[in-house]
Amino acid sequence: MTNTPINYEIVKSKIEEMNLPFVGKATIRELKRLVDNIEKASGEKYIRMEMGVPGLPPSKIGVDAEIEALNNGVAAIYPDIDGVPLLKTEISRFVKLFLDIDVDSANCIPTVGSMQGSFACFMTVNRMYKEKDTTLFIDPGFPVHKQQCKVLGVKFESFDVYNYRGDKLKDKLESYFKKGNISSVLYSNPNNPSWICFTDKELTIIADLANQYNVVIMEDLAYFGMDFRKDYSKPGLPPFQPSVAKYTDNYILFISSSKAFSYAGQRIGMMVISNKLFNTQAEDLKRFYNSDLFGKAMIFGTVYALSSGTSHSAQYALAAILKSVNDGKYNFVDDVKEYGEKAHIMKKLFTDNGFKIVYDKDENEPLADGFYFTFSYPGLTGEQLLEKLLYYGISAISLTITGSERIEGLRACVSLVKRNQFSDLEKRLNAFNANHSN
Ligand SMILES: Cc1ncc(COP(=O)(O)O)c(C=O)c1O
Repeated sequence: MTNTPINYEIVKSKIEEMNLPFVGKATIRELKRLVDNIEKASGEKYIRMEMGVPGLPPSKIGVDAEIEALNNGVAAIYPDIDGVPLLKTEISRFVKLFLDIDVDSANCIPTVGSMQGSFACFMTVNRMYKEKDTTLFIDPGFPVHKQQCKVLGVKFESFDVYNYRGDKLKDKLESYFKKGNISSVLYSNPNNPSWICFTDKELTIIADLANQYNVVIMEDLAYFGMDFRKDYSKPGLPPFQPSVAKYTDNYILFISSSKAFSYAGQRIGMMVISNKLFNTQAEDLKRFYNSDLFGKAMIFGTVYALSSGTSHSAQYALAAILKSVNDGKYNFVDDVKEYGEKAHIMKKLFTDNGFKIVYDKDENEPLADGFYFTFSYPGLTGEQLLEKLLYYGISAISLTITGSERIEGLRACVSLVKRNQFSDLEKRLNAFNANHSN
């Protein structure tokens, strides 16, 4: 089938040049490079859905505050390892106003992107108790988290939650916790890549088992407030962003500023440790740290060793953004709603042309429209579909690299797709369907 929207020979030769064993198994960055090469050689613009980068300008409040901080000379000064007091106070206010939870500002720590927060936690949490040395991932998930465990030598287990939604989650989770080796659980909510959001029932199940088995829940809120089915944007007013933190005091939250505030480039995120966990004494920590107190080991052991704190000027940026959000002056959710609106239109273009949405429900409720969605085409595996779509000017990633068992699925990220590309997308999907439907 060589009558494809993008010159067949060019795509074929560029794929061959990359020397990948299977295009369908390529990492996100390899795909990005491949599509860059095809675009250059063909002069055609792709519908680029492979990378999860913010497609919006950065928060101006942040940029202005950062410039001011730099002009005031902060670049010459080491910031405190656990963050500047102004920022710590605003993080604590933020979680009170948007999650309705109480966390001391001392336990709110800026990190070099939320990725550093998870790295620091894998390292510290798995050293609290000798016998608890394994992190459990509720998949699908962000592949880099597992890469972090691999480079640290931390053990991990995982399962795809697709068949274990609602009440079924309890037995599944318990089957892991019972073994006694699980220190912690990590999941993202809303979820990258599937955009499922756990219901309050599911969060309660996770929390109750965490309490029963003394397991730390690491909740990755990289897409904070971005389940647009509800309005989580009003400080201090319900509904609040759902979180396990409402139901257990054994948690760590990672809140990224990359997507919610379009501040990915400055690599600043937040690690919020519950008051109870921060003050938990765990004798086995002494094997690696001067203190057996979790919070102290985290700050003066792990974070000190990793980067000795987070960029000084970026901390002022985030403090200013959070202050205006907390004061009700800046509605950050309004700024990112565009992602949900685009997803709504794009999902319809796919389903109108023979494609299916793979992860499509939260228990009985239709999935939200947001930063990502997952799709498949009847009769094709995700890897086959990914390769074929490249000839139609569309790029995405395979769900198999995210721990998903839905081998038919691909993940689409809507952020880089411009509205003026929708007509191209429609034409290309149409051509694909015409060439593949029986
Ligand atoms: C689930 C998840 N966690 C963390 C991150 C990265 O966050 P940060 O840029 O704050 O390190 C991403 C970015 O794509 C993500 O999807």
